[in-house]
Amino acid sequence: MKAILLAGGKGTRLRPLTIHTPKPIVPIFDRPFLQHQLDLLKRVPEIDGAILSLNYQPRRIEEIFGDGSSTALSLHYVVEPAPLGTAGAVRYAAQSLHESVVVFNGDVLTDVDLAAVIALHRERNAKATIVLTPVENPSAYGLVETDAQANIRRFLEKPTADEITCNTINAGIYVLEPDTFDRIPADTPSSIERSFFPSLIERCETFVAYVSRGYWIDIGTPEKYMQVHRDMMDGRYRAAPFGESASPAVISPLARLEEGVCIEGPCFVDEGTIVKSGARIGAYSVIGRQCHIEEHASVERAIVWAGTRISQEAVVRGSILGRHCHIGRNATLEDGVVLGDKSVVSDYSRL
Ligand code: GDD
Ligand code: MG
Repeated sequence: MKAILLAGGKGTRLRPLTIHTPKPIVPIFDRPFLQHQLDLLKRVPEIDGAILSLNYQPRRIEEIFGDGSSTALSLHYVVEPAPLGTAGAVRYAAQSLHESVVVFNGDVLTDVDLAAVIALHRERNAKATIVLTPVENPSAYGLVETDAQANIRRFLEKPTADEITCNTINAGIYVLEPDTFDRIPADTPSSIERSFFPSLIERCETFVAYVSRGYWIDIGTPEKYMQVHRDMMDGRYRAAPFGESASPAVISPLARLEEGVCIEGPCFVDEGTIVKSGARIGAYSVIGRQCHIEEHASVERAIVWAGTRISQEAVVRGSILGRHCHIGRNATLEDGVVLGDKSVVSDYSRL
């Protein structure tokens, strides 16, 4: 059985981080996001390969995962000539598939029991099975109404406040039957959420829901991208590098911490990073590879990508800094700052 990972979006809500790093490979601590999805797929013995459906900066993604030999799943890449939307992308990627296929939005992290979802799909002999998850505010997602037998009765993408009738949303994980894909228009963009799913309901196809109440997040905004790190540090989602760690502070043995450095867990410091004397790495900080945190600088609740320098006495709180940024001396970055790669903040600036 194959899985299709929809990983072709531009990641606009994560800009400027996604200008040079497509959303599927933004780092989560020390590994690209998609690695977590591949790990979830690997837990299902029946799934032997994944097709990555790409459009935006496809080579960057291919370079990282190659043929999948490092992930023990055979990986194939399909690059659309132009964005085909979520339905068009599935049709385009599934051209050679004739058996049930698992489809994943390339930006959701979850511990759903995928084998159980596939089992339900078969038991119900469904044309489509989708995973639902309860959220507080469905307006940013696809709202899904079901009946008492878990049949899907209504699918409403990005509902307005007065259209919200329940709290279950589309978690972005499906099992689909390829014999329905000829209904998706070929070569023109179309949406699985706005066209294909509503069409299944109109045609009274067997379209069922699997409600998952475990961990689920869409990492597609800076707030959620920060939250996923926090959740992993707090043990709400267990995965490397925090999965097995007994210590709340995960510091690479290849990082160099000078004497007089203050470290407050939970936090993460990756290899090659140098933290100078008197600097403080506060709780919920994530420092990527080869960073320099200079004397008396303070980092707290911030995510700092590889190669960034935070100069003496600078303060960075609740912010995300891209690769190879330079934060000048005594600069202060307060909650909500998001800097793209190679940003330069001059000495004493306040953001
Ligand atoms: N290949 C390809 N081509 N992939 C695409 C395209 C495309 O044209 N457009 C979007 N994608 C990929 C994105 O990269 C992402 O992984 C996934 O499809 C979903 O797109 P998003 O842009 O992240 O959608 P969303 O988060 O607003 O809403 C979707 O996900 C929610 C759950 O997170 C919908 O499926 C909602 O119904 C759902 O609740
Ligand atoms: Mg999304």
